[in-house]
Amino acid sequence: MAVVVSGIRPTGMLHLGNYFGAVKSFLQMQEKHDCFFFIADIHSLTTHPTPENLHSNVKQVLAEHLAMGIDPDKCALFIQSDVPAISELYTYMNMNAYIGELERSVTYKEKKASQPKNINAGLLTYPVLMAVDILVHHAEFVPVGKDQQQHLEMTRQFGNRFNNLYNTDYFKEPQAYSNTGELVKVPGLTGKGKMSKSSGDEDTIVFDQDDKTITKKIMRAKTDTGPTELNQAKSEEIQNLFDLMALVSDTSTISHFDDLYAKAEIRYGDLKKQLAEDVLKFVSPIREKINYYKKWPALLSGVIL
Ligand code: ADP
Ligand code: TRP
Repeated sequence: MAVVVSGIRPTGMLHLGNYFGAVKSFLQMQEKHDCFFFIADIHSLTTHPTPENLHSNVKQVLAEHLAMGIDPDKCALFIQSDVPAISELYTYMNMNAYIGELERSVTYKEKKASQPKNINAGLLTYPVLMAVDILVHHAEFVPVGKDQQQHLEMTRQFGNRFNNLYNTDYFKEPQAYSNTGELVKVPGLTGKGKMSKSSGDEDTIVFDQDDKTITKKIMRAKTDTGPTELNQAKSEEIQNLFDLMALVSDTSTISHFDDLYAKAEIRYGDLKKQLAEDVLKFVSPIREKINYYKKWPALLSGVIL
């Protein structure tokens, strides 16, 4: 049985990107591997330092994991800060990471730009803490979305450097994993890149919002003025809508809209209406379960004892 590790930050409600980029692989892997899934609350302090939000977000994300089918009888489900070994190894591993390579991290550069008033040292050493999360369990596979690829490369770098320095083979080389065979990037609704908890409410399809709100967001998703020629290439925002459809709609629906696009006869309103309908079909049963778990705080605390 391979050891599998992955974490999700409690920085807001989970969205389609988290599900298709990470949780869907967790579900597959908990059936046959030795899995450690956790809520990365220490990581979230680099961007979300307020305690009230942190506590409620941990509960939210925990309820969401259970609702999506993560089963505490099949895997270890825990909170990062409950494991002191992680903070301990983080101290040591910081001596194996060079400032120059940390400064080249894409997420560090993005966060520096998005929160210029709080460029804390934790943002810079974020990849070290993530490496420790993984290395401490000697993980072989790490189910994550495409945005985490660079962090995985850094994890291997730090682990190997430690092994070379101390002449050991103590740390294993972990690989990023996706149930689809290729790391996934779910786009947002505003045409600006990946869906993310921090990219704004209008960009993100979350599980724990009502039908009306979700439908409204999808109907407002960015589009272009429409194809003017046969078989025209799709713009980024239109490709994004088709990519979202590929996650939740059946193949005949997708080819129906693909054909209409190729014939330059597509009406984006119809495309979005169909997308909203298929998203809701997928999201609503999970949302019902989230609400069920949120009503049982004792059950939630029992899971992470
Ligand atoms: P967010 O970026 O929304 O704050 P996290 O950083 O906590 O979410 O990510 C948790 C997991 O979900 C990671 O494995 C990450 O790669 C994955 N993930 C997040 N957003 C997406 C996305 N848009 N597409 C694919 N995977 C994603
Ligand atoms: N950095 C990841 C993210 O932002 C979350 C995370 C923290 C993680 N530690 C991890 C993911 C360890 C996989 C393994 O999405």
